[in-house]
Amino acid sequence: MPGWFYLLLLWISQISGKVVILTGATGVLGRSLSHAFLQTPLIAGVYAGYRDVTKLELLPKHALLNPFALDLEDVTVGLETIGKIISKQVSNEIVLINNAAICPVGMDRNTLRHTLHINTLCPIIISKSVAKYVEKYNQINEEKVKLSIINISSGDGELVYLQTAFKDELLKIKSLVELEDFILTLHNRNCNDIVYSNGETPCYSLSKALLNRFTVLFSNEIDQTNTRVVSVCPGNFMSSMTASEELTDLHDLNTVTAGIHSVALDWKYNTGLFYRFGEIIPY
Ligand SMILES: NC(=O)c1ccc[n+]([C@@H]2O[C@H](COP(=O)([O-])OP(=O)(O)OC[C@H]3O[C@@H](n4cnc5c(N)ncnc54)[C@H](OP(=O)(O)O)[C@@H]3O)[C@@H](O)[C@H]2O)c1
Repeated sequence: MPGWFYLLLLWISQISGKVVILTGATGVLGRSLSHAFLQTPLIAGVYAGYRDVTKLELLPKHALLNPFALDLEDVTVGLETIGKIISKQVSNEIVLINNAAICPVGMDRNTLRHTLHINTLCPIIISKSVAKYVEKYNQINEEKVKLSIINISSGDGELVYLQTAFKDELLKIKSLVELEDFILTLHNRNCNDIVYSNGETPCYSLSKALLNRFTVLFSNEIDQTNTRVVSVCPGNFMSSMTASEELTDLHDLNTVTAGIHSVALDWKYNTGLFYRFGEIIPY
């Protein structure tokens, strides 16, 4: 490809393309998603959030890949960087993918508090901040930027795994403020009153169920002409999260990535819903 043609394509993608901001980019799914978005026409840049600098070598080498430090233990620095990315960008859409998560075994107050912080509260904080940055950008710029928020959830976050009384309690929550307050007090509760099928990782199940509730509530509160919020269950695939389990229904990583890629980029996947391989999962 002649150099001028490559530069033209780069320029076109920058004025009409999408910018992807991805958390947990150095994990198994994060790396695969980074690679897939970098192969996609009209992607103007992939901003890859990482917490461990020694894992940067795992990311694909590409002119449009921009790693940035994002540690969910303290999101302050990462959020500042995201603010700068959005204020400077010249694309027509931001795609935020809340992918980073932990999946600890067992249940005690600290494990629950920590899991809810990383898997639920951080995606909420980042999503709210990104939505504010985009709103601010749109107030001062003529060219409006759209926003897609993709929450990487899990089949474990389906409501069927929650105790009926708890499920009713959760469904009564009607605003994001109420949900945040609710999450902040949950570690004081007995897990057996919350999660129906404890399994080995009840904190994880709960954190993903709450992430899905966030998808619904935030979607109701945003301007849906410009912003969309969806949850995606990737399906099961081999990573540190599944390595210790005897799962027989593991999916190929390319299939998993393709399922998320299409939902992330196509607005036919409606706001407020929960998808697996492009199909709606009841929530
Ligand atoms: N594997 C499955 O079968 C499966 C099934 C359903 C849903 N999911 C979801 O898929 C997503 C990706 O998981 P994965 O399977 O790819 O697991 P993974 O390889 O362990 O990736 C998790 C990512 O989260 C990052 N992370 C964890 N704590 C963090 C923190 N405090 N600050 C910043 N980043 C942090 C990790 O950073 P490091 O790279 O530094 O470790 C890693 O990049 C998760 O949301 C998970 O719940 C996975």
